[in-house]
Parts: sequence; structure tokens; C-alpha cells
Amino acid sequence: MKILAFAGSLRTGSFNKSLLRASKELAPEEMEIHIFDLEGIPLFNADVEEEGDPERVTAFKESIRTADGILIASPEYNHGMTGVTKNAIDWASRSAKDAPISGKPAAVFGASPSVTGTARSQDQLRQSLKSVNVRCMPQPEFLLFRAHEKFDSQGNLEDLSSQKFLKKFLQACSNWVKSFE
Ligand code: FNR
Repeated sequence: MKILAFAGSLRTGSFNKSLLRASKELAPEEMEIHIFDLEGIPLFNADVEEEGDPERVTAFKESIRTADGILIASPEYNHGMTGVTKNAIDWASRSAKDAPISGKPAAVFGASPSVTGTARSQDQLRQSLKSVNVRCMPQPEFLLFRAHEKFDSQGNLEDLSSQKFLKKFLQACSNWVKSFE
């Protein structure tokens, strides 16, 4: 099972990027997670699209198209998803008639230093994914709150209960994706 994963943060030390790396390690055997770094994806512009997708966008859309499912680590800015996350969805939703993201099973999760742990950004993201016909896993939800206490300085997820729950979450993702085979 091939899962395309991306984090809506460009930061080198991003908790959400670290969460994806931890997921790669803790995923069930059948799940192969490929992380796509959104660095280099330009802001969506229909004029640019008309001239032909930029190379990085083509690569992103192709990796979504060939994946069995999608995993999105969604940081939270100002009680919503980041512009980076939304911009990625916008590109992946084009063309309207042949959108690579349409119909894909997906799961969202996220990490934040706050106590609300990306609850609001995940809600907003789910709403947006609905509009592009993505089959988003409803439960379980995974919110890594007080993320700065859960990773070590190298970005390794060292908190044992978070590791345990992440494993459960990823197994649920696998089951969710399988249910659409
Ligand atoms: C934040 N942050 C934040 N956190 C949160 O839980 N709710 C929020 O509304 C916001 N708002 C917000 C706005 C802006 C502009 C910034 C820069 C930050 C904190 C945010 O969760 C934190 O910077 C994370 O570390 C971002 O995710 P990455 O980059 O670590 O993946």
C-alpha cells in the first residue's frame, strides 16, 4: 500500500515533518509512506497553470495520482490550516475534470505546541477535502498537542504514549485505505 504524505510546513525543524518521519517508522508493514516536501511548490496561479504545470507541481500531482492513499500532517496558523497546506490542495484539485486528489482515501493529523493540537486546522482541512471529493477518515483523530514536549531536539518522537497512539492511528489509516480497494 503506497501512501503519499505531506506536511503543510516548510520549516526545517517542523513538528509536522517530524510527525511524518515518525509515521514512516511506526507504520504497519503493509504501508509504505513516501514523504513529499512541499518546498518549491509555487502559489497557485491559474495563468501559470494555463501555460503548463511547473515541474515541481507535476511531480506532486503524479505522486498523488499513483498513491493508494494520502496522509496530511496539518500545522495550525491562526486557527486554520496553513497557506502551504491549502495551496497544495488547490494544485492537487486541478484540473477539475481530472484532479489527482479526487476520490482518494486520506487521513489528516497534526502537531502543535498549543494545548489544542491543530484541532481547528484539521476541521478546516476536512471541510476543504470534502469539496474535492477526498474520502477522509473520520476516526480516530490524532492531535499531537504540546508537541515541543513530545519530540527530542533531533525531531524524534520520544513520547511513548504518543508513539503507541500513532501506531493505532496508522493501522486505522491502513484499514481505511484497504476499504476502498
Ligand atoms: C502559529 N501557531 C499556532 N498554533 C496553534 O495551535 N494554533 C494557532 O492558531 C496558531 N497560530 C499560529 C500563527 C502563526 C502565524 C504561526 C507562525 C504559528 C504555532 C504553530 O503551531 C507552531 O509554530 C508550529 O510549530 C507550526 O508547525 P510546524 O512548522 O512545527 O510543523
